[in-house]
Amino acid sequence: MTYRFRWCVTAFLLISPWLISAKARAGIQYYPERKVWVLQAGEETYAFGVNERGELQAIYWGPRIARDADFLSARSRPEVASFDLSTSTTPQEYPGWGAELYNEPALKATYADGNRDVVLHFVQQHIEGDTLEIELKDIASALEVHLYYRVFAPAGILQRWSRIVNRTDQAITLESAQSAAWSLPQGDGYGWHYMTGHWGAEWQLHSEPLQTGTHIIESRRGSTSHQANPWFAIDRPQQTTEESGPVWFGALGWSGSWRITVEQTAMQQLRVTGGFNPFDFGYRLNPGEQLETPPFYAGFTNGGMGEASRLLHRFERQFILPGGEGAPVRPVLYNSWEATEFDVSEAGQLALAEKAGKLGVERFVIDDGWFGQRKDDHAGLGDWYVNPEKFPHGLKPVIDRVHALGMDFGIWVEPEMVNPDSGLYRKHPEWAMNFPGRPRTEARHQLLLNLARPDVREYVFQWLDQLVTSNDIAFLKWDYNRNWSEPGWDAVAITDQKKIAVEYVHNLYDILDRLRAKHPKLEIESCSGGGGRVDLGILRRTEEVWPSDNTDALDRLTLQDGFTHAYSPGIMMAWVTDVPNGMNGRSVPLKFRFLVAMNGSLGLGGNLNKWTPEEMQAATGFVAYYKRIRPTVQRGALYRLIAPQGSEFSANEYVSTDGRQAVLFAFLHSQRFGTPFPTIFLRGLAEDAVYHVQAIDPGQVQEIGSASGAYLMHHGIDLKLRGDYDSASVVLEKQP
Ligand code: DGJ
Repeated sequence: MTYRFRWCVTAFLLISPWLISAKARAGIQYYPERKVWVLQAGEETYAFGVNERGELQAIYWGPRIARDADFLSARSRPEVASFDLSTSTTPQEYPGWGAELYNEPALKATYADGNRDVVLHFVQQHIEGDTLEIELKDIASALEVHLYYRVFAPAGILQRWSRIVNRTDQAITLESAQSAAWSLPQGDGYGWHYMTGHWGAEWQLHSEPLQTGTHIIESRRGSTSHQANPWFAIDRPQQTTEESGPVWFGALGWSGSWRITVEQTAMQQLRVTGGFNPFDFGYRLNPGEQLETPPFYAGFTNGGMGEASRLLHRFERQFILPGGEGAPVRPVLYNSWEATEFDVSEAGQLALAEKAGKLGVERFVIDDGWFGQRKDDHAGLGDWYVNPEKFPHGLKPVIDRVHALGMDFGIWVEPEMVNPDSGLYRKHPEWAMNFPGRPRTEARHQLLLNLARPDVREYVFQWLDQLVTSNDIAFLKWDYNRNWSEPGWDAVAITDQKKIAVEYVHNLYDILDRLRAKHPKLEIESCSGGGGRVDLGILRRTEEVWPSDNTDALDRLTLQDGFTHAYSPGIMMAWVTDVPNGMNGRSVPLKFRFLVAMNGSLGLGGNLNKWTPEEMQAATGFVAYYKRIRPTVQRGALYRLIAPQGSEFSANEYVSTDGRQAVLFAFLHSQRFGTPFPTIFLRGLAEDAVYHVQAIDPGQVQEIGSASGAYLMHHGIDLKLRGDYDSASVVLEKQP
């Protein structure tokens, strides 16, 4: 051995443990001798292995454990009694329903001969960059499952999904196909957080202790739903607060029927399984066919619920939303819906556009009512020609004037729907989703087009492409105003009809993807009668969402607070509308309405023709203020200082990505007993830096002028808020 070669070997031996641990620190490491994988992402470590039976078994998910050697081979857990054999007490990564499994299965299938036993064992693995693929196979058939783990290392997020392949020579029907099962450290004392709602009341946050049993959030409605959102967070209520303590969290990227099952087993194993909703599910795989399940993203933090949200927000901005971090800031938008409803016309829209332009609005959007024979919600959906009575010269004069006023132009569409009173329905009644010979349930006088049909998919793509090609349209508000009923698809074989649950959503994504590819500057808002379709699947294809038809500023505080637990505030369109608000009949001051809306992507939705000169002047000032702080709100770190639920006070703070600006919003809902607004302790500032402190209304903040980060965070600042619906905003600029 030459000296040089010896030196190289010695150097390699010295360096290799470092290399391995450096690699392990941010990515995927496989230890074949132990059959163990260790995934490191941000603050979290995730480890699993192959046990002595050949099953893939969870080992660990929690705070970072840097020493990979700590993770020994997976060993199955013993049976507890003849009622709980080892198959059920062992936390499997992706259990098939077979042998003796009583926990939620990740896969349930029926073979052509009626056999329904699926037992999955490890076959091989492959690591490609940030993605690990693991192949499992049924012990007695050629049913394969490929599990995928993608590590977003700096973001601290893991993505899991599966691909199920039928390599047998007969059809297999999948009755449950989940994306992943996540196992938390064994024990009790957990709590969970989830969001439910209904039209006008989305994003209601619930926090409950997790007792033994199965807890389900789901949608059986064909789309994401207002009723529950595919997001969860699990914490340790004794230890976890908004700003500290352990939180395991996750969200599904699927805009169809979905389910997340949280199980606290009698053996105190906490498992979260999610993917396609098994309700009314039946996906037939012919020989050689496969099905890929939706992505299930998850992460862990020791920084409390606030940090869990910030991790998700950053991840969404970097890896989910179109354009990634280079995406432009969201423009200030005007939308005519609450001002005119269906009564749109060239003259009416132009009058509103003139006023919007003067306020500093950057995007003008015509909502429902511009097409077909659309006078109200009884007719017109499906006939996507410009209504000649309302717009005798087409859309061009309006678009040209909107451009001349310094705004770009957007328009409302509802591509997946048809009114029975429409030319399209008269021509193609078979395109509506229905069970032949059965009643067709109408909701808002409309039916769903069966987007799973290739001819419907092409029709929808063609007219949308035509609309955007022949008009200078920068933005589509893509609405969806009902849920599924009678989800029949009689154009395909009976055995394939339930595939509608998956193929519809694939085709929706296909239309969006093709439209975006052909019109790269086009931006899209996902709306479903408010926030009925917000998830990490649709967000890969839409820049923003309409979180609720409820624009009452007081209600919005709660809705917006819930929303931010899962989704970035910057994608949440928030209009300032007129009072008394149609939802609750409540009147709140213009300033309160503006400051609430500034906690998202600011929009205006009132009838500007009725705004007084004083209101117009104030609004101009608010729009200018928002433009000054919007990168901080839309891209910064959100600190929920005081939650609105059950409190007369609420406050949010945003810190810009470069740390140079922070913005505070504070709201007094209704003062009682003269109680002063609580001292605000800011967060996320640099202790030693000095910040210039400026309130939107200078009299509302203590006369401190400037103060150190330490003072602002530990001594805090006092705001002068009084009465009902008072509000304040403070900008903190870091001094050079
Ligand atoms: C429901 C949406 O949420 C509203 O903003 C509006 O666009 C209407 N649909 C129009 O029909």
